[in-house]
Amino acid sequence: MGTGGVKESYHNWNFFCTFVTRNYADTDMEPKKKIIITIDGWSSCGKSTLAKQLARELNYVYIDSGAMYRAITLYFLRNHIDWTSHDAVQKALKKIKLEFESNHKSGHTDMCLNGENVEYVIRDLVIAEKVSEVAAVKEVREFAVAQQQAMGKEKGIVMDGRDIGTTVFPDAELKIFMTADEAIRVQRRFKELFQKNPNITLEEVKANLEMRDYIDSHREVSPLRQAQDAIVLDNSRLTMKQQLEIAKGWVKETP
Ligand code: DC
Repeated sequence: MGTGGVKESYHNWNFFCTFVTRNYADTDMEPKKKIIITIDGWSSCGKSTLAKQLARELNYVYIDSGAMYRAITLYFLRNHIDWTSHDAVQKALKKIKLEFESNHKSGHTDMCLNGENVEYVIRDLVIAEKVSEVAAVKEVREFAVAQQQAMGKEKGIVMDGRDIGTTVFPDAELKIFMTADEAIRVQRRFKELFQKNPNITLEEVKANLEMRDYIDSHREVSPLRQAQDAIVLDNSRLTMKQQLEIAKGWVKETP
């Protein structure tokens, strides 16, 4: 294990949550009762940034549901699994163990696949090119959603993704749907990927983003949709600080 931090499977999630929250100082943001906050939206519009900010402010656990789909995609690619075959997918999923490991350096949680910290490798464009296809497979979604729902049992969680407010936690107390202008989203993702791979082009990033948004919003199972009771946050022209202030206001207003 890279970080030597706490590693618990979702079966032991309660222990993990307790451990994480005890390590943070109390803040005046913490609402009286713990709630579930869902953040859905288009690719690269800053969902995870806001989710991490809110989780830190509230002493909540942050879960990046997209990392789970990325880790499954990594397993399928490495093991040459044909994800168009239901049989092959079902067999492969039985061999996949997903865990989140706390990273003391970053203060966040890293994705682990069968005991290996894959947080860095799952952010690669090679994974981004296939993840939406894999995430559209019914069995893959059932596998991931069951684990995500188990993680939210004790509440006190901020989870970001595409179907969190619609399918995973339809009764969540606060649902945010994030969006931003496409050109801005492309620039943000390009900047992030360019640091890892200076050969990457803006066109490649734009094509990948458009393809993922299309597949994610047109798939049969749990397509990306704004939940009816979600509040829209367009952060095209907001700083990170401004978006956090807005979201904190919504948390305070949540009964
Ligand atoms: O948030 P992200 O870009 O890391 O997510 C990667 C992919 O995973 C995204 O293109 C669609 C899929 N995904 C999903 O289908 N449902 C979720 N709840 C989260 C991600």
